[in-house]
Amino acid sequence: ASITRFPLIPVKGVPLRNNIAENWDSIWTFRPDPSDILIATYPKAGTTWAQEIIDLLLHNGDAEACKRAPTAVRSPFLETCSPPATISGVERLKKMDPPRMIKTHLPIQLVPPAFWENKCKTIYVARNAKDNLVSYYYFDCMNQAQPEPGPWEGYVHKFMRGELAWGSWYDHVKGYWTEKEKRNILYIFYEDMKQNPRREIERIMRYLDLSVSDEVISRIVELTSFKNMKENPMANYSHVPTSFFDNSVCSFMRKGEVGDWTNHFTPEQSKMFDEDYEKQMKDVNIPFKTLI
Ligand code: PPS
Repeated sequence: ASITRFPLIPVKGVPLRNNIAENWDSIWTFRPDPSDILIATYPKAGTTWAQEIIDLLLHNGDAEACKRAPTAVRSPFLETCSPPATISGVERLKKMDPPRMIKTHLPIQLVPPAFWENKCKTIYVARNAKDNLVSYYYFDCMNQAQPEPGPWEGYVHKFMRGELAWGSWYDHVKGYWTEKEKRNILYIFYEDMKQNPRREIERIMRYLDLSVSDEVISRIVELTSFKNMKENPMANYSHVPTSFFDNSVCSFMRKGEVGDWTNHFTPEQSKMFDEDYEKQMKDVNIPFKTLI
C-alpha cells in the first residue's frame, strides 16, 4: 500500500503531523508512571542511539535482551505511530508495564504535564543545528510519511523558519535547556557522545541511579557504536517496509557523523545560516560544537 505523507497541522503554534493534532487530547492527558523514562529530542538528534544505550543500561548490557523487539516497540513513540503500525504510542504504552522508555519529539511546552508532576527522569539529546538539518533532510526524503522536503535550498529556509514537523529546532533546544535545572533534565549532546561515548554513557547511568560494571560499560560502548547499531536489525529500523522508508534514498542509519553538513552547505548558505543562528540563539549560551 502506498503511504500518504502527513500534512502538518499546528498544535499550540507548533506544526505537527495531522495524526498527532487529531489525537492531541489523548496525548496531552497521558499519565506516565513516575518510574518511566522520557527520551526527548528534536527529530534526528540521536534518539535511537540514546534509546539503545538506556535499554542496555537497564538490562546490564545484555545484548540479547535488547534484541527482544525493534526500537519502536521496546521504546514507544509517545505522540504518534509509525506506519504500517496503526496503534498509537499512547495505546501501546497502556499495554506495557512501567518502567517504560518513552520517546518524544515534542517541544517542552507540549510534553504532557503529568511527566513533570510525576518527576519522570528525562534525557534530552541535542545535535548541532547544521548536522541535525542535514540528517532531517535525508529523513524527509526517505520517510514517505513525512512532509515532502522539496529542494535543499528551500529546506534550509524551512528549518530556519521552524516550518518542519515538530517545529523550530531553535525553540526546541532552548526550551529544554532553560528548564533543565528546574525539571531535573539530563541534557546531552550528540557530539559529546561521538567524542567520548563512555563518559556520556556513565553520565546517563548515574542520572538513572543505575550502577553497572566498567566491563559492562565497555560492552555498551561497543554495542552502541554506529557500525554495530547499523548492523543490528532490532536497532536499525530495517524492519520498516520500503514503501514507508525508501531505502533507495538512504538507510535510517545513514552516516552517523559529526560535520557532515560541510558536504551539503555551500559557503554562502553556511554564512547566511550562521548569521540567522546568532540572532535566534542570542538569548542562550548552549555549548554546541558545530565545527568539529
Ligand atoms: S529519529 O527518527 O528522530 O528517531 O532519528 P534519530 O535516532 O534521532 O537520529 C538519527 C540519526 O542518528 C544517527 N545515529 C547514530 N549516530 C552515531 N552513532 C550511533 N550509534 C547512531 N545511531 C543513530 C543516524 O545515523 C542519523 O544521523 P545521520 O546523520 O542521518 O546518519
